[in-house]
Amino acid sequence: MIKKGIILAGGLGTRMSPLTKAVNKQLLPVYDKPLIYYPLSVLMLAGIKNILIIVNKGQLNQFRKILPEKNNLGINLSYKEQIFPGGLPEAFIIGEKFINGENIALILGDNFFYSQSLTKKLRQCVKLKVGAKVFLHPVKNPSQYGIAKISKNKIVKIVEKPKKYFSNLAVTGLYFFDKNVCEYSKKLKPSKRNELEIVDLLNKYKSKKKLKAEYIGRGGTWLDTGNINDFYSTSNYVSTIENRQGLKIACLEEISLNNKWIKKVDIVKSLAFYGNCDYSKYLRSLIYKN
Ligand code: G1P
Repeated sequence: MIKKGIILAGGLGTRMSPLTKAVNKQLLPVYDKPLIYYPLSVLMLAGIKNILIIVNKGQLNQFRKILPEKNNLGINLSYKEQIFPGGLPEAFIIGEKFINGENIALILGDNFFYSQSLTKKLRQCVKLKVGAKVFLHPVKNPSQYGIAKISKNKIVKIVEKPKKYFSNLAVTGLYFFDKNVCEYSKKLKPSKRNELEIVDLLNKYKSKKKLKAEYIGRGGTWLDTGNINDFYSTSNYVSTIENRQGLKIACLEEISLNNKWIKKVDIVKSLAFYGNCDYSKYLRSLIYKN
């Protein structure tokens, strides 16, 4: 059972400069919430309440303002700094003490997931005992992502940003690993772009026949907010759904309440924390809901 998760929210966000010159990308708004709320909500939906957030140098205080360690969400948050962005598997080197020899989930701070059956699938994934599991989803531009080829229900090939087309199935930024992940990550060598590559780590599991695939499914949505256009598309997506349904995506208190990690009275503390805003109005509706 996976009980711990890491959100990798480091990086310099250079593709979104100058917006990211002074502020970490994950603190920028996706419609009505900071981006970090969305990946955090995914870990919480998976039932994970011990979470390490890795942020870039100099941004810790900003994150603590919005997601303090002593929070009203019933979750255990801790932080670590990434001094220089050296690739995704660095999360397991920086987070080794936090992981403490246990299995672990990793989500990238700029990934957005929304799907009817997501919670059910996540709850299955956290049952992982050995090996690794990745979520796959089709994309129009496979040369921008880690791409996997499937044959007879098995991952037979994984390549980072392939120049030549071989599949349209992207490896999304949500991963589940067994306890070997720290050891394997420490043995990785930097790629040509001088980073430790997540696909090298995944290939290590594949070579041991321990890599499995899960699918978000055609009706589900996976977006990433790598550049400014994707960022605004995600924002519009959230605004469209929320304004139509009157239900919020990634309302952290709502998820905690459903998980029975907090009680309705705890939401009152959150009201004081957020102040008079649309998000608080939604929280108030949760208190009065049956
Ligand atoms: C990273 C990974 C890539 C993955 C993507 C998902 O890419 O290297 O394998 O498909 O995240 O968002 P990057 O965002 O660093 O370009």
